[in-house]
Amino acid sequence: MRLLITAGPTREYLDDVRYLSNASSGRMGYAVAEAATALGWQVVLVSGPVEIPAPAGSEFHPVTTTADMRDACLKLFPGCDGVIATAAVCDYKPKERVAGKLSKTGGPITIEMIETDDVLAELGRLKGDRFVVGFALEAQNPRENALQKLRRKQCDWIVLNDPSAIGSDTNSVELIAEDGTTAAHWAGDKRDVARSLVDWVAANTGKS
Ligand code: CTP
Ligand code: CA
Repeated sequence: MRLLITAGPTREYLDDVRYLSNASSGRMGYAVAEAATALGWQVVLVSGPVEIPAPAGSEFHPVTTTADMRDACLKLFPGCDGVIATAAVCDYKPKERVAGKLSKTGGPITIEMIETDDVLAELGRLKGDRFVVGFALEAQNPRENALQKLRRKQCDWIVLNDPSAIGSDTNSVELIAEDGTTAAHWAGDKRDVARSLVDWVAANTGKS
């Protein structure tokens, strides 16, 4: 089993020093990497900038922007059996990145933002017989929105996260299947949730 994992936030730069990003510690993805390595799987970890050390035993690919994450994943996914996408990808980027540093204007400024590439949706389109597991964090109508995401990104399952997970050591998640049913429900330390997820993938994908 060779597993691709996306983790951490991505950054989108306005100039060489200012960027937009997401609040993500990377802990969930790194815990999935550790749990998968402990099962003897090969782990390919594509991670945005985080403050925790790279997990031992993973093939580590650090990236910064969403485009970097997309390029790394498109290159690495064909050699993997599936992907678990935990990354908190920055959804928008400034339409233009200014070289150097913008000076203050003394008044308000307007920045035109455009959507970044959807890494998971691209992997979903390319998946063939690989499995695809997404993560979702929803402010409202959580199950409906998560299921829509699962379908839009051609995931086999999606892990619906509780918003309280951001920055926390613990998490409470529901694993939703393509038909909208709840495949599993796990709560606890992110490492325990990660182990349950990896065990579940091992038992339900026919790959191990
Ligand atoms: N994802 C991704 N690339 C993006 C956005 C999201 O790979 N540009 C992945 C995330 O890693 C996660 C899943 O898609 O596995 C869902 O992410 P989420 O932010 O919840 O969904 P979005 O499609 O970005 O929708 P929104 O933020 O508007 O709810
Ligand atoms: Ca998003």
